[in-house]
Amino acid sequence: MAELFAAVEIIAAKRDKHELTNDQIDWVVDAYTRGVVADEQMSALLMAILLNGMNSREISRWTDAMINSGERMEWSALDRPTVDKHSTGGVGDKITLPLAPLVAACGAAVPQLSGRGLGHTGGTLDKLESIPGWRASLSNAEMLKVLQDTGAVICAAGAGLAPADKKLYALRDVTATVEAIPLIASSIMSKKIAEGTGALVLDVKTGSGAFMSDPERARTLARTMVELGTRAGVKTLALVTAMDVPLGLTAGNALEVRESVEVLAGGGPADIVELTVILAREMLQAAGVKNTLDPVDALKNGQAMDHWRRMISAQGGNPDAPLPLATENHVVVAEQDGELIAMDAMKVGVAAWRLGAGRSRQGEKVQAGAGIEMHAKPGEMVKAGQKIFTLHTDESDRFERALEALDGALRISNTGEKVERLPLIVDRIEG
Ligand code: URA
Repeated sequence: MAELFAAVEIIAAKRDKHELTNDQIDWVVDAYTRGVVADEQMSALLMAILLNGMNSREISRWTDAMINSGERMEWSALDRPTVDKHSTGGVGDKITLPLAPLVAACGAAVPQLSGRGLGHTGGTLDKLESIPGWRASLSNAEMLKVLQDTGAVICAAGAGLAPADKKLYALRDVTATVEAIPLIASSIMSKKIAEGTGALVLDVKTGSGAFMSDPERARTLARTMVELGTRAGVKTLALVTAMDVPLGLTAGNALEVRESVEVLAGGGPADIVELTVILAREMLQAAGVKNTLDPVDALKNGQAMDHWRRMISAQGGNPDAPLPLATENHVVVAEQDGELIAMDAMKVGVAAWRLGAGRSRQGEKVQAGAGIEMHAKPGEMVKAGQKIFTLHTDESDRFERALEALDGALRISNTGEKVERLPLIVDRIEG
């Protein structure tokens, strides 16, 4: 059958800063997914989009075209409202782990399709896979069963969900076109809308360890995604949150699971607890769950922990099994007395990645025990020789490159300089 358009005309239109028509967008996304538009043609179009942008109609249509490339999930068999959270990714961002069972304990259902880490940011599935036996791949029927039984499920998106995005994302990764706001927004929202959640809370990270280090660009991304969700009938809101400093005191897969379990046991670092509780309240409100257990109480009284244990067991994991530990460690100490005024999230993330917590190619194996423990955070007084980081890995030859990444990550001052930190919640954007 004859094709509707020639890809080269669509590329030229965007190159020359014209709007793409709905028909052009529908066709090019579909034809690329079918293999009719070649990678080199789509690469050129993606670069033209990165350079010349898309308006909100084009972004919305592009998102719909990606949704329509695959299946749409639906959860009408559940007896409670669904709500999900998506983070744009950061260093030490393990919030999904305590958050999903916490929100389930407070009365909403959380169907969460998560990803793996690439580069310096960790991935929720890699973290959970450090729990012996835990399985990331579930069929749709298994997903529904876990949701019905435990109120929360965290698993990998199946091949049938937004296949256009899978192909496009892999291409963007190797053509320096990941950073375009229309492409990030449509990529994230096509998967979240196809996932069938009724409400969605976005955690858009900003600061050195985030995709969008500039808060203004983070706000634009947040607004674009809120608009896409709202138009699709999903109650969507976004928090723009700090990622200038790593979240919590650990970055690395099993290390982050251990810290998440501390939060579920009613302890854990203050920033993790605060962000988890804020996001849980936003999710419950967005889902319309009223007069329910407060998230703070659900963390204190063990109900969130019960849901965690059930959720992990339902996916084959043993919540009581000891978590893997790396075989080698190396301690980094403070070089002087003073106040720790800055800790660069990007540098910590890159160091954890180089220790083996992350991967540099899709499909590579990660080390469950690798990563970094932080023993102090900005705002604390430290003494020369005091432990600041412990680096963990199974391969001691990784320390050198990790230490190089940490060069300049810390600033310690004894001149009364102010701590340089973004507020935890930078902005809130509602549809
Ligand atoms: N996460 C996604 O799923 N897509 C992007 O484009 C960026 C982050």
